[in-house]
Amino acid sequence: MQKQALSITDLRTQASYEIPIDNGTIRAMDLRQIKTGPDDFGLMTYDPAFMNTASCRSAVTYIDGDKGILRYRGYPIEQLAETCTFLEVAYLLLFGDLPTESQLKAWVSEITYHTMIHETTKKFLEGFRYDAHPMGMFISTVAALATVYPDARQVHDPAARLLQIHRLIGKVPTIAAYTYRHGMGYPYVYPDNDLGYAANFMNMLWKMAEPKYSANPVLARALDILFILHADHEQNCSANVMRSVGSSQADPFVSTAAAAAALSGPLHGGANEEVLKMLDVIGSKDRVPAYIQEVKSGRGKLMGFGHRVYKNYDPRARIIKWAADQVFEVTGRNQRLEIALELERIALEDEYFVKRKLYPNVDFYSGIIYQAMGFRPEMFTVLFAIPRTVGWLAQWQELIQDPEQKIARPRQVFTGSDARDFVPMEKRVEAVSVG
Ligand code: CMC
Repeated sequence: MQKQALSITDLRTQASYEIPIDNGTIRAMDLRQIKTGPDDFGLMTYDPAFMNTASCRSAVTYIDGDKGILRYRGYPIEQLAETCTFLEVAYLLLFGDLPTESQLKAWVSEITYHTMIHETTKKFLEGFRYDAHPMGMFISTVAALATVYPDARQVHDPAARLLQIHRLIGKVPTIAAYTYRHGMGYPYVYPDNDLGYAANFMNMLWKMAEPKYSANPVLARALDILFILHADHEQNCSANVMRSVGSSQADPFVSTAAAAAALSGPLHGGANEEVLKMLDVIGSKDRVPAYIQEVKSGRGKLMGFGHRVYKNYDPRARIIKWAADQVFEVTGRNQRLEIALELERIALEDEYFVKRKLYPNVDFYSGIIYQAMGFRPEMFTVLFAIPRTVGWLAQWQELIQDPEQKIARPRQVFTGSDARDFVPMEKRVEAVSVG
């Protein structure tokens, strides 16, 4: 059998080392023994943006970026999106296997039981300005739940953890819907526990004077599919934040709020909002070539294109395109779709994008569907955060239960000043301007 090890010779000292290889990785800590002398700290790796560092072992989600494969707990995303409900997939992600009929019933009932938010939390939401960004409201309100549920700090108690998981998955659609209603100036609508997860969310968003909200089944199913596609994506920026904050044993509400903050950035979940803005700037199909030319000359990015891991078509984008067709049957075709299709067509043939393996990602088409359903672009990232809460919690559970994990604490390569003597105020000269 081939030896699973790396042989390293340090040319500074001529010393040789054998470093074990496990699962295609070496342990960064094994490099620490490589020193030039007793006072040397030892070798470290330098990896800004974690381009080539595995920070954990995970059994939740598998991605093969070159082949365009995405699996949750081994199941292809295409099969899950076609046949499952979002809460069924949530169960799978969190507990490792698809639920039986009775397990699913119990699970759905637990989540449904926790959809209400405390009245004081509702008042907290009312305090935001009328034009507050929904993502800011969402992040703050999820964090504020920690004050309502102090038992969430018992992160080593499995029963307490499970309760917070039920609460978070149950309450995030309610909070999201309230951020929308607040922005619109509409009264808040309480959850309707007769409805499914997506249909109840639609009820809290759009119910007006009618006694009972009835969701369009095609739109409710499309939303459920979008939730499935966004539920987890292994060690992305926000999952990494969830794990990093969770590693300090902070409670899951503040950890989820931190993860949502990471998601809000335009390079991550905020991209879906940016895609819509970009399509509006382009304005019409015939202006697509000129826009692509601008991107190629370095003026901006094609939002919704490119991915750190996928160097092939994002499998989620393909399913979203299919879901878009179902939605447009109900809502009518959106002219932004024509612009998006033309952008995709030209970009996929253009040498700049081909060479860099830039393909449409999940955010490219999702915003067009959301807008057709009646959401303003500011809501798009909140819509991403609802299902991703499940992924963050699955990653957090794994972290807490992993005996190898400790508080996350990277090293640095120090590039600052060497030790120097304090300079009194009267002797200081202006060296650099701040800002
Ligand atoms: N448009 C134009 N050029 C791009 C784009 C783009 N969207 N994305 C990457 N490039 C270029 C980039 O300029 C670089 O070119 P060069 O080699 O000449 O310097 C090359 O492609 C490699 O890009 P990178 O920035 O090194 O790639 P990364 O892995 O650091 O970034 C990314 C990944 C997703 C942040 C980036 O592709 C991007 O900013 N895309 C637009 C924002 C977006 O759609 N984000 C959503 C990501 S998917 C959902 C999610 O994670 O939330």
